[in-house]
Amino acid sequence: MEVLEAIKGRRSVRRFKGEAVPREVILELLEAVRWAPSWANTQCWEVIVVAEPEKKAALAETLTPGNPAKEAMTKAPWVVVFLGQKGKAGFYGGRPLTSKGDWLMFDVALAVQNLCLAAHARGLGTVIVGAFEAERAAEVLGVPDDREVVVMLPLGVPAGQPSAPRRKEVEDFTHWGCWGKG
Ligand SMILES: Cc1cc2nc3c(=O)[nH]c(=O)nc-3n(C[C@H](O)[C@H](O)[C@H](O)COP(=O)(O)O)c2cc1C
Repeated sequence: MEVLEAIKGRRSVRRFKGEAVPREVILELLEAVRWAPSWANTQCWEVIVVAEPEKKAALAETLTPGNPAKEAMTKAPWVVVFLGQKGKAGFYGGRPLTSKGDWLMFDVALAVQNLCLAAHARGLGTVIVGAFEAERAAEVLGVPDDREVVVMLPLGVPAGQPSAPRRKEVEDFTHWGCWGKG
């Protein structure tokens, strides 16, 4: 699949078939995480790959009320939980190098998108889940304090192709030369 085709065709999939996805496929997809770019190649991401129904149910309970991805958390055969090691991305000599502080969210996001695109290219669906209580999810998974739970990603065989939510036009977010120039 061509890259732009994959980027445009990827959708947030919230409904999954009951089909299993082999562990080997997950390992293959994690190669896409492995090769994500990161601040000074610090690779601050980690993943916890969850298949146990009780654990997926406990994680689903951490979602914000009314989150449309709740069912996906238990129906998908896998939930890939992305963590970031704090104080690595954007740090030099133990100090943040820029006014933005920790670049953890940025680097983890790049890895997440790699996984979403690789899954899509293989006919699998994902949805990024960010609206949840990260501290509770960390407790469920035994994540230590020096790691941040960033997002959770139900992954499986899609039950249908969702339609694409509207996007801004290029000219709606592009400035040429300086801000405010159309
Ligand atoms: C950081 C982030 C957090 C998100 N959190 C949720 C979420 O908690 N629940 C959900 O159903 N979708 C969530 N989404 C999915 C977005 O709603 C979705 O990407 C957006 O509506 C565009 O649709 P598309 O992914 O199909 O193009 C999240 C996406 C991102 C990037």
